[in-house]
Amino acid sequence: MYTRLSAPLDVQWELTPWCTYNCVHCYNYWRRGKRPKRTLSAKQLEVHNKSAQEIINSKVFHVTLTGGEPLGVLEQLMPELLALKDAGVRISINTNLALMNKRMISLLRQLGIRAILTSLMSADPTLNDNIAQTKGAYRRTVAGIRLAIANGFRVSVNMVISQKNFHTIYETGKLAYELGAQAFCATKVSKPFNCKDFSGYSLLTQQIQQMFRELVRLKRDFGIQVASLEPYPACLFPDDETRAEFGDRHCSAARTSCTLGFDGAIRPCSHAPISYGNAIEIGLLGAWQNMGMWRDGSLIPAACAVECREYPKFCSAGCRIESLNAGTNLSGSDPYCLGSKPVAQRFVAKPELFPASAVIRLLSSVRFRKEDFGYIAYRSSANWQAIDSTLHAILKSTLNEKGVTAKQIAQAYNATESDALETMSILITRHIVEQV
Ligand SMILES: C[S@@+](CC[C@H](N)C(=O)[O-])C[C@H]1O[C@@H](n2cnc3c(N)ncnc32)[C@H](O)[C@@H]1O
Repeated sequence: MYTRLSAPLDVQWELTPWCTYNCVHCYNYWRRGKRPKRTLSAKQLEVHNKSAQEIINSKVFHVTLTGGEPLGVLEQLMPELLALKDAGVRISINTNLALMNKRMISLLRQLGIRAILTSLMSADPTLNDNIAQTKGAYRRTVAGIRLAIANGFRVSVNMVISQKNFHTIYETGKLAYELGAQAFCATKVSKPFNCKDFSGYSLLTQQIQQMFRELVRLKRDFGIQVASLEPYPACLFPDDETRAEFGDRHCSAARTSCTLGFDGAIRPCSHAPISYGNAIEIGLLGAWQNMGMWRDGSLIPAACAVECREYPKFCSAGCRIESLNAGTNLSGSDPYCLGSKPVAQRFVAKPELFPASAVIRLLSSVRFRKEDFGYIAYRSSANWQAIDSTLHAILKSTLNEKGVTAKQIAQAYNATESDALETMSILITRHIVEQV
């Protein structure tokens, strides 16, 4: 369905290349030349103003503010960000929280931001600061996490895993739990595009598999939610448990999301070095059209697309940028793809069964966008559903009325009640409707 979306559902907006830290593994550290200035120039503000308009006009549902360090320019960009909020665009933020203080809390609240993804490199302060190449980084980020949580923000901690901090995954997850984080994510480091020798950082296959096991152990020991924020090839998972936990993440680059750079350049994802157009010139929709090859399957290597048969439903064939950066090209194999059928079984959730008398109602937080096939019903980047105009009309009517039954849905489609119950089950799983 994503092949026909009129625009991205979610946009990662890199507000600035400036950062409080200088993380040695960071794709932006390797991308930038001399250290950028924190204060945005009049010309940069003009680009941001146009970028905000593009996001609004394209009817994007959700924007993640990122960078560089977005808190560094939040104050300056409040007019643009409030315009997004007023247009109904939901906002979240990726920040290292080094600049978190009372003023930032107030700005974040004004923007309706409740979810924060923060980066912490290790529970070992010296190691953390060495990776950040900034003394005091550990102290500042941990203080920022405490302050954010004390003020009611939902904080998830992301730890980028490289050779340098691999041995501290468990301790860092434990620290995230003790600080009160909602979730702990361990994400394999991706090789930055213009770094010639990343061999001291990149993980071995066995280390990624061990990283998954450490996450499962943290979940078992502390009950904290765990995740890994990259799409991994299905064949990489060593067992059913790790595939069930981390195998559901598909590559969203240019399919449902894209990245808007601080200079207005539009890329398929934050790792990608390739721009398909600029917000100032051809605009977000023009660039989105130009990224067609990212969603029509033509970049998927034959071994995944034809031989393995897990693609596209159960595996998105890893990361195209990892393939590019490994020295092949966009359509090469992900360096972590094992080139064999997955050994781990896919987790198949049992569909929830409802009695024929079940009544459902649209959740009021769901938003719709018109598409040529009907509508997108959107709750969050993880929970959205493509629907046709008939179902759209039925769901909208449930806001005023008492809800709708399987029988009524079946009648509208001239279908069986069991088909209608299946539709209801999908909508409930995606958090589009609730059972009354
Ligand atoms: C570039 S940072 C910008 C936002 C903010 N300054 C921060 O540190 O979270 C955005 C996200 O990318 C992750 N990241 C940076 N470099 C990475 C790499 N080489 N591989 C994977 N993730 C990376 C960070 O951990 C963070 O979650």
